[in-house]
Amino acid sequence: MSQFNYKNHRLTIENIPVIKVIKKSETPFYLYSKKQILENLKNFRKTFFQSKPLVCFSVKSNSNLSILKVLKEQQCGADVVSAGELLKVLKAGIKPNKIVFSGVGKSETELILAIKKNILLINVESENEAKLINKISKKMKKKTSIGVRLNPDIDAKTHRKISTGKAQDKFGVSINDLIHLSKNLNKYKNLKLDAISVHIGSQILSENPFRKTLKVLGKIIQSLNLHLKFVDLGGGFGISYEKKEKKINLKNYAKAVNKFKKKFNCNIIFEPGRAILGNAGILVSKIQYLKKGKNKIFAILDAGMNDFMRPALYNASHNIFPLVKNSNRNKYSVEFVGPICETTCKFIKYKNYQKLLENDYVAIMNVGAYGSTLSSNYNIKPLAAEIIIDKKKIKIIRKKQSLLKLVNI
Ligand code: LLP
Repeated sequence: MSQFNYKNHRLTIENIPVIKVIKKSETPFYLYSKKQILENLKNFRKTFFQSKPLVCFSVKSNSNLSILKVLKEQQCGADVVSAGELLKVLKAGIKPNKIVFSGVGKSETELILAIKKNILLINVESENEAKLINKISKKMKKKTSIGVRLNPDIDAKTHRKISTGKAQDKFGVSINDLIHLSKNLNKYKNLKLDAISVHIGSQILSENPFRKTLKVLGKIIQSLNLHLKFVDLGGGFGISYEKKEKKINLKNYAKAVNKFKKKFNCNIIFEPGRAILGNAGILVSKIQYLKKGKNKIFAILDAGMNDFMRPALYNASHNIFPLVKNSNRNKYSVEFVGPICETTCKFIKYKNYQKLLENDYVAIMNVGAYGSTLSSNYNIKPLAAEIIIDKKKIKIIRKKQSLLKLVNI
């Protein structure tokens, strides 16, 4: 059930009118529902309950410390891609034995940190990375657990900019290279091959690519007679950004995962990001100006591509809803844009949107994942505040960045 609903024409989050939150912070600000996060996690676990996976939340989708602590309380692990993310999840209290580290370009300093911290898995993406981990581990007199990330060359049927499992993508190693690497691994005395990992892309809305990937993995494990502690199946589960968009049905995939787990006697790891946070956050913004263009009105928001990049980066479509609904329609179409000096700093266009006034407030919907984490200081704009609704309480979980501090960098 969505925690974002209209009641008496007012957009509410966990039954609190969003308009009430305006007093707490200058706009724009991110606003999350803790209840929605918990519900999403519960649903995810319910889907895969048979295989009892370790859920390693993908921190790149949202790295607010308070949110990471909420997930830690729910026994989540973490999927990290940098020293910064690793240090942050440790700070949130997530134990090293629940942390996996992915990424094609981990630096030596990052690897040293990960090895020192004894994290669950470093998912390597090339033989040269394995060599480097071996060298560092030898120096530290350690045996390091690694996974090898497979690039199965499978089309995830998603936006080309967020596909990661095709041969043309930079991620993982090919089937042949995986076979070669696993046969060669006894050369690397300070490594332990504990897992194979995959992640074929993000915002995937069909279970077919996931099932295909599982088949490929099964064949490899069988032909190499591998005995793995873990198989890390990555993230990528899509959400519906539009009401009419179909929801992904993972029933058959979940069954297949359970069969796979039993057959190969391994533990399953998932790395969801968007599925847990995506629909749990909105970006609240004020209309600063209404400006007449040719056949349309520009509603110029105080939120820009610096606050929320997805439309500019992937042409992503995110609905913008008024905090207070009225039934008065505009004759013109309305285009919501931001203040940044780039043509791509625009969000969405509607025909016949309700009549708007300057200083009205709106919410950009479904921005809980890859919203605040992709934001920047472009045009020297401070990072927006982040607020969460937690059992009727409105809690600021990140203050708006100080402009003064920013100016002095
Ligand atoms: N694991 C790995 C290794 C990943 O690279 C990613 C995302 C995930 C897990 C989590 O995927 P999710 O469950 O959230 O789909 N900025 C883009 C998405 C990029 C995703 C990158 N990797 C967007 O806003 O759509």
